[in-house]
Amino acid sequence: MLSEKIEKGLTKQLNRESESSQLYLYMASWVERKGYEGICEFLYDHSNEERIHMLKLIRYINKRGGSGILNGRETIINITTYVSIKELFMKLFEHEQKISREINFLVEISLQEKDYFTYNFLQWYVEEQIEEEALIKMILDKIKLIGSDKGSLYFFDKDMKNFHKTKKF
Ligand code: FEO
Repeated sequence: MLSEKIEKGLTKQLNRESESSQLYLYMASWVERKGYEGICEFLYDHSNEERIHMLKLIRYINKRGGSGILNGRETIINITTYVSIKELFMKLFEHEQKISREINFLVEISLQEKDYFTYNFLQWYVEEQIEEEALIKMILDKIKLIGSDKGSLYFFDKDMKNFHKTKKF
């Protein structure tokens, strides 16, 4: 059985993953409307990944005798437009860093509660966050290198299309 504290923390996290999925989806749609075919594929794919993160949490909570439920609130995503692709990825990087802090906090609680099953379960998310932060940072660094060169951004978008095809995110 999960302690009340752990169940609450995991439930919060599954809702954050759901919000992440919608955030990526929103960004993908925005990028698609701007004509970036490669970047939008990457973001659409990643939205699906975030949904998988959410599902894993729901199923783990249920398996441990809890109730893995979405809170049913309207997802609060700061619906905005972005000044640039660079700004979008800067926001995404901040978002992933925030998720990493939240995962770290959950790991800390699992140790406090001596729930080693949950501690073990969360290691997958720890690994995932290392990968996600590195991936978004790598894309952001490339976009920063490109600067205001529209031609290079065009080719970068094309590369992202191939990146999307060859890499399993
Ligand atoms: Fe599920 Fe991108 O964190």
